[in-house]
Amino acid sequence: MLLEVLQFPDARLREKARPIRQEEVDDELRELAANLAETMYDDPGIGLASIQVGVAKRLIVMDVDWTEGERNLRVLLNPEIVHSEGQQVLEEGCLSVPEFTAEVQRAARVVARARSLDWEELEFDATGLEAACFQHEIDHLDGILFLDRISRLKRNLYVQRRKKQIRRGEEPSKADAGSVRI
Ligand code: NI
Repeated sequence: MLLEVLQFPDARLREKARPIRQEEVDDELRELAANLAETMYDDPGIGLASIQVGVAKRLIVMDVDWTEGERNLRVLLNPEIVHSEGQQVLEEGCLSVPEFTAEVQRAARVVARARSLDWEELEFDATGLEAACFQHEIDHLDGILFLDRISRLKRNLYVQRRKKQIRRGEEPSKADAGSVRI
């Protein structure tokens, strides 16, 4: 089932998601994860956090290179970054921030840990876009958007444009092809 992705400046995107306990992993949570994945692929994007559909739990889905071929879905519970190093700048977009992309500076390499739906401990050593995706999604779980990591000038220009769009009652379009929406 496709879920509605909350759009900036929805206040629910600013909530801090809470950790998931093992006993909370039930059919309902598995269904939520499946729906998140379906929504991510449909949008299309390469990552989606449950807080973006209004569920403030530490659950994300990601699939960094599915547009190039076969799908390799990750469903990650309680993801956290345990090590980061270096710097990189990549162009990012977000399923919750319509019609906008910007260059974002982040760590170039991260080691991330998470639990699977079967409560296995997982560890990832990520660089490049995959590293950016981990950082972007974990930011979502802490109520942080990539807009918070760009210059105030760029952010203000976007916020004004978005407010005007909302005032006019215009539906944002998803057609910003070529950019990576995380
Ligand atoms: Ni995002």
